Amino acid sequence: MKIIRTKDYGEMSRRAAGILAAQVILKPDSVLGLATGSTPEGLYRELAEMYERGELDFSDIHTVNLDEYRGISPDNDQSYRFFMQKHLFSKVNIRPECTFVPNGEEADAEKACAAHEAVIKKLGGIDIQLLGIGNNGHIGFNEPGNEFVNETHCVALTESTIAANARFFASVSEVPKEAYTMGIGTIMRAKKILLVANGEQKAEALYRTCCGPVTPEVPASVLQLHPDVTVVADEAALSKIG
Ligand code: F6R
Repeated sequence: MKIIRTKDYGEMSRRAAGILAAQVILKPDSVLGLATGSTPEGLYRELAEMYERGELDFSDIHTVNLDEYRGISPDNDQSYRFFMQKHLFSKVNIRPECTFVPNGEEADAEKACAAHEAVIKKLGGIDIQLLGIGNNGHIGFNEPGNEFVNETHCVALTESTIAANARFFASVSEVPKEAYTMGIGTIMRAKKILLVANGEQKAEALYRTCCGPVTPEVPASVLQLHPDVTVVADEAALSKIG
């Protein structure tokens, strides 16, 4: 695991955007695995600015997202599809038909998950997977548990994740209780992984991810077994790692 320590969120965003930009430049037909959440917002802003300056071309890029709430439509402003549209897809020249987010409107969980897994396979796998990390060490919506789940699946969100996500909804009762998420195997099959984290609230999870035992109780700890992981995190998030 390569760890890049930055002084703050702005520098984290610029460094991580630089890594994704290099991927797009060096392999213009890359498959990018993308994440939502607060952490990558600055990074997406940086990519959009690079595109505006004529430095990046997304016309041959495909994207696949980690996860989506179950039972939510793409035009709901809390859906992950809406987030991606707002923060990246509408700002760059990516072709809409080349962007894939699990279909939250598909009530048949098995069908929705198999379709997402099939898209990734058909595209030939993910070149680089961007990840944020939950305060409890989750990646995608793979919550702490007794096993690493391999493929895209439907999960019940934990109370702590529902509480953490409540800030985006009018009230905690409106936070969806289930989501479709890439599995740990889906993530681990990506050729490269880029994990971003900022803030003191991520310090414990990041410490356990990088320095603790590999265990499904800390889903991100499995990344220790991946051959090409870069962590870009600010000093606060890395405060427990010497
Ligand atoms: C988002 C996702 C989640 C987030 C994590 C951190 O697609 O899969 O695992 O990366 O919950 O969220 P933020 O960045 O909001 O702290």
